[in-house]
Amino acid sequence: MTQSGALPANRPGAVRVRVPAKINLRLSVGAPRPDGFHPLDTVYQAISLYDEISIEHADRLRLTLDGIGANTLPTDGTNLAVRAAALLADRLGVAPNVAVHLDKHIPLAGGLAGGSADAAAVLVGCDALWRGGHSRADLAALAADLGSDVPFLVIGGTAHGTGRGELVEPVPAVGPWHWVVAAADGGLSTPRVYGQLDALRATGAAPPPTLPALPDDDAAGPARDLAMPSLVPDRLLAALRSDDPAELAATLANDLQPASIALRPALRRTLDAGLAAGALAALVSGSGPSCLCLAADAADAARIAAELTERGVCSAAHVAVGPVAGATVLT
Ligand code: C5P
Repeated sequence: MTQSGALPANRPGAVRVRVPAKINLRLSVGAPRPDGFHPLDTVYQAISLYDEISIEHADRLRLTLDGIGANTLPTDGTNLAVRAAALLADRLGVAPNVAVHLDKHIPLAGGLAGGSADAAAVLVGCDALWRGGHSRADLAALAADLGSDVPFLVIGGTAHGTGRGELVEPVPAVGPWHWVVAAADGGLSTPRVYGQLDALRATGAAPPPTLPALPDDDAAGPARDLAMPSLVPDRLLAALRSDDPAELAATLANDLQPASIALRPALRRTLDAGLAAGALAALVSGSGPSCLCLAADAADAARIAAELTERGVCSAAHVAVGPVAGATVLT
């Protein structure tokens, strides 16, 4: 294809894409790499808390927003969704002339990868609109340039993540697992939370990394990351194949949690309230400040969500199930 836009004549005029939030069932964080990123060993799950994106051909690349954060998010080239359209257009050799509209429901800067989800949706949607013909694996590889969580949101389901989180391998999981997502007022900056973890570890206030330190020679790159032994416990893998939420609850863990709580001490109250309401486990989602409660079933999830709302320990409580598919074209 050429920059002048030699696109197939029968291409669709518009697409709608639905993209889930991500949670981390387990998140092990190593010491920072030479590039400043932290090596991760994580198990991601996509949950049924969705942003909806519509994309249509336009005279130039444009972005509009509705829903959570519509008045605060940038709509220029710094928005990850705009960068995703430009990146794929460049790859395909077409002009990035699409109007993207984001209907946002995933809390912002909440540890749920909302911005990454929108970027994944734009990659998948634009590939359909421009008939790029990329496989999910191709799009996931491209997505790594946009952010560490973007490849997982192209793939969805449940997956093991390594590298800085961008290397993803699907993991068999049944479910549905019933989650309550307790959103907080105001976000937390992801780099700040990682920095706080490093600072806590430096003083012994957080446990040292369980991920082995990387060799000084970083030349091996992703191949070396893949070769590292997985830290995912067999008990977690077995729990994901069972239908016993108590087993899954026993294996949930997040290295970033002490750092998020240090920056936002009120999260402790949210987690305690979740457990008091009958959650099988409660933990911070990714870098926070959203908190997750695992419930025994759908009725329990609804009850826990109502109780968290009533106690005023969150700005909103959403019930969600996982795993669900990654970014999906609806029309
Ligand atoms: O990859 P992404 O752009 O989402 O990361 C945002 C920031 O979070 C990075 O710039 C980095 O400061 C921090 N980060 C990290 N280690 C990771 C992922 C993210 O330190 N594995």
